[in-house]
Amino acid sequence: LRSRPMQLELTEEQKMVLQLARDFATREVEPKARELDKEGRWPTELVARMAELGLMGVAIPEQYGGAGFDNVSYALAIEEISRACASTGVIMSVNNSLVCDPLYKFGSEAQKKEFLAPLASGKLLGCFGLTEPASGSDASHMETVAEDKGDHWIVNGAKNWITNGPAADVILLFAAHDRSLGARGTVSLIIPKGTPGFTLNPRDHKLGIHAAHSCTVFFENVKVPKAQMLGEPGMGFKIAMSTLDGGRIGIASQALGIARAAFEKAVEYSKVRKAFGEPIANKQAIQFMIADMATELDAARLLTHRAAWMKDQGVRHSQQSAMAKLFASEAATKIAHKAIQIHGGYGYSTEYDVERHYRDARITEIYEGTSEIQRIVIAANALKA
Ligand code: CAA
Repeated sequence: LRSRPMQLELTEEQKMVLQLARDFATREVEPKARELDKEGRWPTELVARMAELGLMGVAIPEQYGGAGFDNVSYALAIEEISRACASTGVIMSVNNSLVCDPLYKFGSEAQKKEFLAPLASGKLLGCFGLTEPASGSDASHMETVAEDKGDHWIVNGAKNWITNGPAADVILLFAAHDRSLGARGTVSLIIPKGTPGFTLNPRDHKLGIHAAHSCTVFFENVKVPKAQMLGEPGMGFKIAMSTLDGGRIGIASQALGIARAAFEKAVEYSKVRKAFGEPIANKQAIQFMIADMATELDAARLLTHRAAWMKDQGVRHSQQSAMAKLFASEAATKIAHKAIQIHGGYGYSTEYDVERHYRDARITEIYEGTSEIQRIVIAANALKA
C-alpha cells in the first residue's frame, strides 16, 4: 500500500513549485497584503495571476486544465502564498481542494471537460456549499433539499459562510434528497452562477481574512439537470467528507504560512528592538518564546507534509489531515499571539503586520471543521485501530 518511503528532502519538482510560489508571493502578493486587509478588497488581479501560474489547479492533471504536480507541492505553494496574504491563500485553497479535487475524483468525463478544466486552469472560480445557517459541525443534518424530478433536481435552501461565494462562477452544493436517510440521503450538485433561483447575500464582515469574501447563498426552486450531479444519489456526504480530508491539508498549509509570517517578523523585531541596553533577542524570556514558536512551526509542517504525502500515495488520510489541521491551526494562533507579545505595544498596532496575522490565524481553527471536530475525527480513528 505505502509504495515508497516518505522523503523529508523535497524533490526537484517540489523545489521548483516552492520557488515559483515564493517568487510570486514575495514580489506580487506581499506588497499588497496590508492594503487588501485594510480595504477588504477582493484581489482580482492576484487570482488572475494565480491562474496564469497554474496555482488554481496545482494537483490536477494537465489534461484537465491543472498543473499536474503533487499534493506536497500544493501544500508548499499554499504556505508561501498564505505567508504573504492569508486571504489569497484560502481563495486558492478552496478552488483547488474543495472544488477541483472532488470534480477530479468523482466527476464524469463530460463534467471534467465542462467544469473541471476551466476551474483548474482558473478561467472559472469555484466555491463549496456544505455549511448551513443551522448546521456547521453537524454537517450531515442539512435543510437544503433536492427533489428528484426525473431528469433534473429542484433545489431549495440556503448555505452560509461560503468562501469565494461572491466571486465564484460555480458552486459545488450538498443537499438532502431523502432526509429520513441522514448522511446516506444526500447528493452533490454542480451549479453555475446565473442558474435561475440561485441568489447571493452581500458579503460577510469578519475578524480576519478580509480580502477572501464569503456570503450566504440561496436556492429557490433551482432546476439542476441530472448531468450536473457529482457521483450518485446517497454519495453527497461522503464526497463532502473525503473532499475535506484534502481541504484540511490546504488549511493546515494556510495556517503554517500565517505562523511563519508571524514568526519571521517576531525574530526580526527581537534583534533590532532594544530594552535594558541590549536587543530583546538576548533575553531568555524572548528566546524561550522563539524556541517554542520554531518547534511548533516545524512540527506543524511535518504533520502537514505527511498528510499531503499520504494523499499522493492514494492512502486514506482522514486522521492525518485532521491532526495536521488541528495542530497547525492551534500553532498559528499561539505563534501569532507570541509574535504580538514580542512586539509589545507595536504588535497591537495596525502599523505592524502581526495583528493581521493574529486575526487571520483565528479562522483556521474554525473553518473546514473546528478543532473540536478534528479531535472527533482523530479519536474515532485512534479508537478504531
Ligand atoms: N471519507 C469518506 N467517508 C466518510 C468520511 C471520510 N473522511 N468521514 C465519514 N465518512 C462516511 C462514514 O463512513 C459514514 O458512512 P456509512 O453511512 O456508509 O457508514 C458516513 O460518512 C457518515 O459518517 P459519520 O457517521 O461519521 O458522520 P457524522 O454525521 O457523525 O459526522 C463529522 C462526522 C466528522 C462530525 C462530520 O460531520 C464533520 O466533519 N463535520 C465538520 C464539517 C466541516 O468540516 N465543515 C466545513 C465546511 S467547508 C468550509 O469551511 C470551507 C471554507 O469556508 C474554507
